[in-house]
Amino acid sequence: MRQHVNPLSQFFQLPLSLPSKNVLFRKSHYPIHLDIGSAKGEFLIELATKYPDWNFVGLEIREPLVSLCEKKRRKLELDNLKFLFCNVNVSLDEWLSDFDYGQLKRVSIQFPDPWFKRKHFKRRVLKANILNSIAKAMSKDGEIFIQSDIFKLFESMTNTIDKNKYFNRKDVGDLRFIDENPYNVKTDREKFSLKKNLLIYRAIYIRNNLLFIN
Ligand SMILES: C[S@@+](CC[C@H](N)C(=O)[O-])C[C@H]1O[C@@H](n2cnc3c(N)ncnc32)[C@H](O)[C@@H]1O
Repeated sequence: MRQHVNPLSQFFQLPLSLPSKNVLFRKSHYPIHLDIGSAKGEFLIELATKYPDWNFVGLEIREPLVSLCEKKRRKLELDNLKFLFCNVNVSLDEWLSDFDYGQLKRVSIQFPDPWFKRKHFKRRVLKANILNSIAKAMSKDGEIFIQSDIFKLFESMTNTIDKNKYFNRKDVGDLRFIDENPYNVKTDREKFSLKKNLLIYRAIYIRNNLLFIN
């Protein structure tokens, strides 16, 4: 399987119509946690098992991974979890517009692809457009959780979110970063980084009460 795909290639620019949350979940009124770049899906599988009164969606641009995750999910008979193939930067906005206001409670973006070269920065997943789509669908007190073991990338993510008027960084007192993953479930990349004793930078942003204006 390919390690990376170029999200800016023509193939990934085609907007996909993702299925409505009403057909995705048996209990479609439950709060939704969206994981962007869900990769092999173990993080969401564990969360969905632990929290049956939440719905979880993993969005992933590598289609073979989505098929693999869906196979695992079906085997476990988890009906509060779904993995969907899409380029988040192209298909998220329309899909979220189908959500009931405030139903989107959590978004996680964990260890996104760094795209180290300056000329590739524009391939990075966290951009102003997806923040606005999230802000539109999320009610007050909803949260975005980000983490990475690459400080420069983490800094570019916090700079992007800091510029968005609908989110405020959660105050963690004297600490600069959140110590632990708040969900108590680790992603694959997180386990790898911890094993290598790499520093992990984490932050939570809370949706404030500003009404979204298009
Ligand atoms: C480095 S992996 C991290 C996976 C997982 N979150 C973890 O922490 O182990 C980043 C994932 O984001 C996916 N991704 C990158 N750009 C994307 C995009 N525009 N839309 C959806 N998924 C994307 C990649 O294919 C990859 O699986």
